Amino acid sequence: MERSDTTGRPHVLMMSEITADGKLTLRRGASSKILMKYMAPETELLLHQTRAEYDAIMVGSNTIKIDNSFLTVRKVPGKNPLRVIPNSRADLSLDSNVLKPDAPTLIAVSERAPPERVTAIRERGVRVVSVGKEDIELPLLMHILYRDFGVKNLMIEGGPTLNWHMLRDRLVDEIRLIHLPFIVGGSDTPSLVGGMHIEDEREMIRLELTRFYLCGTNLVTEYKVLYQEGT
Ligand SMILES: NC(=O)c1ccc[n+]([C@@H]2O[C@H](COP(=O)([O-])OP(=O)(O)OC[C@H]3O[C@@H](n4cnc5c(N)ncnc54)[C@H](OP(=O)(O)O)[C@@H]3O)[C@@H](O)[C@H]2O)c1
Repeated sequence: MERSDTTGRPHVLMMSEITADGKLTLRRGASSKILMKYMAPETELLLHQTRAEYDAIMVGSNTIKIDNSFLTVRKVPGKNPLRVIPNSRADLSLDSNVLKPDAPTLIAVSERAPPERVTAIRERGVRVVSVGKEDIELPLLMHILYRDFGVKNLMIEGGPTLNWHMLRDRLVDEIRLIHLPFIVGGSDTPSLVGGMHIEDEREMIRLELTRFYLCGTNLVTEYKVLYQEGT
């Protein structure tokens, strides 16, 4: 396993489609592809254009299991980013679209990944790195991406569990939200950021609104993440 040197990391953008009530999908366990059908065509282009501008794209393993995402650039001309999936136990289905050769892929596993699963993934021509004992050490993964894969900018497209860990580890620099004019409700429906609740307002992560604009019929908002000393 890699040592914990984390100096140097990519610039990180979190990008997501969210409903007016802050949800990322229709209900727990549902694919966000259902909601994405309601994005304006111009916003779909923005999403694919952003992918083409980034060296790498990362989503959590549960999103791959539920959405079976491709994470490729399809709606605009451009280069596919490196697909990065943290999946500590290497238990993604070997038929997952991200393991197909449309684009380069890196699976980050931990020491608890069974060696035969790692071998099976590698046999698909996919790179695997081990970065953590139990869970994935995201700061170390960011450093490896920067140092060994030349990733200078990375976009993350959720889900809420990965978003929470990346924010908690202070690894997100910017957030871009595509607002979909729907309300889906549901107290356990995944929202932009999952994880543990905070105890008081000192733990709130502060954002600075940097831009807002209409893309087709969708409002897009952009924020800088302002981490504060001691939070
Ligand atoms: N609207 C949108 O823009 C959008 C985008 C993406 C997803 N979604 C929706 O979000 C839902 C899935 O979200 P989710 O919160 O259940 O899962 P998730 O964030 O996609 O994946 C979480 C999983 O990633 C793995 N992981 C490994 N190391 C990690 C680390 N250090 N930090 C965080 N995760 C780590 C863990 O599983 P292992 O056991 O494999 O390590 C963890 O359970 C789906 O319904 C999907 O449709 C919506």
